[in-house]
Amino acid sequence: MISAIVAIDRNGAIGKQGQLLCHLSADLKHFKNTTMGHSIIMGRKTFESFPKGALPGRQNIVITHSHDYCAQGITVAHSIDEALAAATMPGEIFVIGGEQIYRATFPLVTTIHLTVIDHEFDNADAHFPRIDLRSWKITEQEEHPADDHNPYPYTFMTLKRKKTPSKQLQL
Ligand SMILES: NC(=O)c1ccc[n+]([C@@H]2O[C@H](COP(=O)([O-])OP(=O)(O)OC[C@H]3O[C@@H](n4cnc5c(N)ncnc54)[C@H](OP(=O)(O)O)[C@@H]3O)[C@@H](O)[C@H]2O)c1
Repeated sequence: MISAIVAIDRNGAIGKQGQLLCHLSADLKHFKNTTMGHSIIMGRKTFESFPKGALPGRQNIVITHSHDYCAQGITVAHSIDEALAAATMPGEIFVIGGEQIYRATFPLVTTIHLTVIDHEFDNADAHFPRIDLRSWKITEQEEHPADDHNPYPYTFMTLKRKKTPSKQLQL
């Protein structure tokens, strides 16, 4: 099962100048709890935005065109297919961004772990693909107000891709 996990603002924005839009402590915990013990797939730019390198307890698969790219604690892949084939940890495979990798994997993704930040950020330059709710079913939704550690209200949601009905056998 291939899942995307992402935090978007009201406009579907995900990043600005190579960084996240804001620091939401609860979302970082949610991300950690959800992805722990799984393979996570990311673009080279997202990997390089991590302050401490590879995320512990997960298989970090980094996609780049470069054939001499290496960093501690990562598996390097040179295409989406190679990244998916390299995933060895059990259960869901998580696509964790950024924009290029979300767009390239979107047709393969069957679950989206979505955090919606109730704010519009100025000058965002990275976005998640548009989610057409006719094709997705919201299976979980949990709203939270802003607090001392989270400057904006936010909602955790799980979306599952609706199954397209298989063609009826014509006699
Ligand atoms: N809000 C969120 O949940 C969230 C999550 C993750 C990231 N982000 C944000 O997203 C932004 C980064 O997104 P981005 O789109 O600029 O970068 P990205 O998707 O993280 O990485 C892009 C890089 O991935 C490699 N790549 C992409 N497609 C490839 C392919 N088919 N084959 C081989 N390599 C491929 C290329 O690396 P090379 O140049 O090395 O070839 C490319 O430059 C940042 O602002 C980040 O903070 C937000």
